[in-house]
Amino acid sequence: MRVLFVTSEAYPLVKTGGLGDVSFALPNALRVLGVDVRLLLPGYPAVLRQLSLVEVHEDIRLYPLQEPVRLLVGTMPGGLTPVYVIDCPDLYVREGGPYQAPDGSDWYDNELRFGLLSKVAALFGNHSLLFKPDIIHCNDWPTGLVPAFLRFIPQPRARCVMSIHNMAYQGIFGPEVVELFGLPPESFSMFGLEYHGQVSFLKAGLFYADWITTVSPTYAKEIQSLKYGCGLEGLLSERRENLSGIVNGIDMVAWNPESDPFLSRHYGVKNLPVKVRNTQALRARLKLPPSKKAPLLGLISRLTEQKGIDLLLPIIPEIVKTGTQLAILGSGDKALEEELQQLAKLYPKLISVSIGYDEALSHQIEAGADMFLMPSRFEPCGLNQMYSMRYGTIPIVRCTGGLADTVVDASPVNLRSKTATGFVFEGESSGELLSCVQRALGLFRQKSVWRSLQLSAMSRDFSWEKSAREYVALYQRLLG
Ligand code: ADP
Ligand code: GLC
Repeated sequence: MRVLFVTSEAYPLVKTGGLGDVSFALPNALRVLGVDVRLLLPGYPAVLRQLSLVEVHEDIRLYPLQEPVRLLVGTMPGGLTPVYVIDCPDLYVREGGPYQAPDGSDWYDNELRFGLLSKVAALFGNHSLLFKPDIIHCNDWPTGLVPAFLRFIPQPRARCVMSIHNMAYQGIFGPEVVELFGLPPESFSMFGLEYHGQVSFLKAGLFYADWITTVSPTYAKEIQSLKYGCGLEGLLSERRENLSGIVNGIDMVAWNPESDPFLSRHYGVKNLPVKVRNTQALRARLKLPPSKKAPLLGLISRLTEQKGIDLLLPIIPEIVKTGTQLAILGSGDKALEEELQQLAKLYPKLISVSIGYDEALSHQIEAGADMFLMPSRFEPCGLNQMYSMRYGTIPIVRCTGGLADTVVDASPVNLRSKTATGFVFEGESSGELLSCVQRALGLFRQKSVWRSLQLSAMSRDFSWEKSAREYVALYQRLLG
């Protein structure tokens, strides 16, 4: 089976969040199962710099671009997955992120950057290039036009899966996109890619894909509702027979406390007491005073509305009042960044806030913290709660999306049956979050119960294998 996995980011080349991790780990897991999966990525500077690439197609002329583009090929770091790279310097070679300029504003030509990605994917899909995939696996709005392009070309063509990692980003542009990319005028309708008079890349993907997946079963249900559907709940609910949730796995090599290169001391279920050395090292690195008793809570996140940081802010004084410390790493919304920094100034011995993106520190927080906070308002899957459980760092999460599907609450019943792996709260208020944190802090003092909770969390299997098998079964179903 041949699959083209189309994505706008892939760790370790370029990553802004969980999609980057998934785009690295899922293709690797699919290859282990014998799928010939290859990636397609835009040629950002970081991609061109890190890969050694050779040309496979020159002179691909794609309306509306003035200049022809080239298609290059290399291999993902780790040596497993081939990756096709679109070389179009005018669109991709500039400093900044995949979606945004260095000042944090969206690129002025994102419809071209990702319209081109989609158009090249569609060339693969109609078997005009060397690699002829049976399945095109699209991810999020930057690849949303692929199913639309494929719908309007003659058979045979690849079947098309659209995976939603986040409904909150939709890629909405002016109606001129239809003509710009040579899509038929009839596509610009309610029964197509039109969305309130604009073109929605995400809606195009959801409307035209042969199958829609999202990254957890609970999120698959949630997005059919007004609260979580971000305006597309009607379409999703109409397509519910072709929509399923497959929970993400984690990269068991990159996120392994027994061999993680970013840690000062390795540990696992057999020598869990060594974890505390990482706590000491983390406090030292963050200039938090040492403490034998005080718990340390970690948080690593894009700082956006999604992540529920605003639920946490008002209760931080209450949490740290008892000596509990906080280690926070994140970047995003400037107002949230500032508020967090203010709190760190106010409580320098209790709160450390690192603004920015820091892969090493993220591993050190996962290993060093006692608990990990994820009060997300919505969370399609979430990876950090799974990293946390693997590292014996007990997650405190809101009951939504993938958090609800992967964390088992430490209720008395679940503690007794040794199935508990974390703390889960319902509701959406600071008060409910605070009670949940207090429940966790209470249990933290009961050392043997806590140890057993950590061991249950660490023993859970979050590897990609099971989910990768579900994707293979889906591809097979689509191919009949
Ligand atoms: P999302 O994709 O919504 O951001 P996920 O939980 O799926 O959420 O994945 C987030 C990924 O990004 C994790 O690997 C996490 O460790 C990483 N991450 C987020 N913010 C930072 C940061 N400031 N520094 C380092 N890694 C980060
Ligand atoms: C998104 C979601 C996150 C998910 C990730 C990978 O960015 O916000 O919950 O884990 O994609 O699927």
